[in-house]
Amino acid sequence: MNGNVGWQLGMASDLMSIPVEIAKRTTRTNPTTMNHRSDIEKIQTDGEGLHHHAKLGIMCPLPSMSTGKDPLSSVVFSRMQDIGCPLAADSKQRFQFEKLLSELSAKFINVSAERVDSQIKWGLQQIVELLGIDRSGLGQVSADRKQIVVTHSYELPGIPPSAGFLLDSRFPYFAKMVYQGAVIRLPDELPLEASREREYCAQTGLRSNVTIPLVVMGSVVGGIGFTSFRSDRKLPDDLIPRLRMIGDIFTNALARKRADEELRVNEQSLKQAREDLRQLTSKLIHSQEEERARIAREMHDDWTQRLALLGIDAAKLLSQLESNDVALPLVVAMQDKVKVLAEDVHALSRQLHPSIINDLGLTEALRSECASFANREGIDIDYSPANVPMKLPKDVALCIYRVAQESLRNVAKHSAVNSASVMLVADERELRLRIEDCGIGFDPKDIRSQPGLGLSSMKERVSLIQGILTIDSARGKGTTVEVRVPLEGGNR
Ligand SMILES: Nc1ncnc2c1ncn2[C@@H]1O[C@H](COP(=O)(O)OP(=O)(O)OP(=O)(O)O)[C@@H](O)[C@H]1O
Ligand SMILES: [Mg+2]
Repeated sequence: MNGNVGWQLGMASDLMSIPVEIAKRTTRTNPTTMNHRSDIEKIQTDGEGLHHHAKLGIMCPLPSMSTGKDPLSSVVFSRMQDIGCPLAADSKQRFQFEKLLSELSAKFINVSAERVDSQIKWGLQQIVELLGIDRSGLGQVSADRKQIVVTHSYELPGIPPSAGFLLDSRFPYFAKMVYQGAVIRLPDELPLEASREREYCAQTGLRSNVTIPLVVMGSVVGGIGFTSFRSDRKLPDDLIPRLRMIGDIFTNALARKRADEELRVNEQSLKQAREDLRQLTSKLIHSQEEERARIAREMHDDWTQRLALLGIDAAKLLSQLESNDVALPLVVAMQDKVKVLAEDVHALSRQLHPSIINDLGLTEALRSECASFANREGIDIDYSPANVPMKLPKDVALCIYRVAQESLRNVAKHSAVNSASVMLVADERELRLRIEDCGIGFDPKDIRSQPGLGLSSMKERVSLIQGILTIDSARGKGTTVEVRVPLEGGNR
């Protein structure tokens, strides 16, 4: 058989050229077949029919997707058959094979990861049916590159299936050839030492098999096999590159599927890592608050009490001193220092744990914080609360209080201003806090790489209550920190 002839029928062939081209080559192959020649000449000069074909050929190129039975090519091939062209059957099959190849390429371009396996099986079935063989299978080299696993197979009813087994342990010679990248034909090319393979052929009645290794970037990634049991269906050598192409299409789709699965696993573990981090942050913030509350209680209940006693002792001592006693001014100064120290400890304990929020509500707690900040730092604070409900969820109130505290600390530390504003407003949907200064500002890009503890803990705290934190700042343009938290009735 002159295999090359049929393969000239590429998908892009001009329809007109099909019978003529074959006619020329057939004439060359069979120069003495006069009847055949005259039949062809008849077609060439048959005005009606030929012009009809020619026109159609120019008007509608061969479809690249199979649309069931292609009427135009059927006409061409039946004409070839009618004139007794010896290549008619072969050309028809090869034409259909090209169509299948094209259809497979198109199908696999956008196939989703979930459908890759079923599409491969479908592809194998199409090949089996088209080539008139009994079974077709795809094997893949495992991730550790130690085994070839037959992962996909299609076989006609009654034919032994091949999917699911390890090629290496069952057919070591065969597997070795695949690893070497050699196309192998059974049973013809089996040497004596391939006893397992020979046994299998004898037991199952395998009449022919061709297996084509699939190679990606120089290394074998698997193989695609075509097997016949009922007849000795030899596939021509020039078909091998086309079949390999189909194997490559499958391999490519499987690689994409694997990449997709890996991506999903990575996404899942990233999601899990984020959730773990969120839970850890939440625990850290809670235990930090608990520790602060414990220290604040100790300061309030123990230290301030002891300082109060010290103050009483100083007063007693003072009452026993004569007005001209040299120790008098010293004891008076000591009494004042104890008083200031007691106030500082009280203020610090309040900062550490603002129990005032529970007693007087967030509005008053922040008013007190702004006042003591202004007093301490010498920075005027314009505090404007509006419509803030007395009862807020504890975690929301504490978070807002902490963000305000840290923002004010930043104003004092970084902004170089002597005034700032704090706004706290609520409506039925959300609570909004805004701390604004007109100071030196900063470029948020600069702190993205090296954020301090203050801004990042603000961010974590706000995200734990499903709020949104916005920091708006630019060099020389001041800084605005805003928190928005949905309230009941909103989507909190
Ligand atoms: N109101 C502000 N005005 C100017 N710069 C600010 C202001 N707030 C923050 N920044 C800048 O953002 C940086 C990060 O602030 P952040 O509160 O995270 O850290 P920090 O205040 O430097 O240290 P920490 O809060 O951990 O004690 C600051 O170092 C400062 O450069
Ligand atoms: Mg800070």
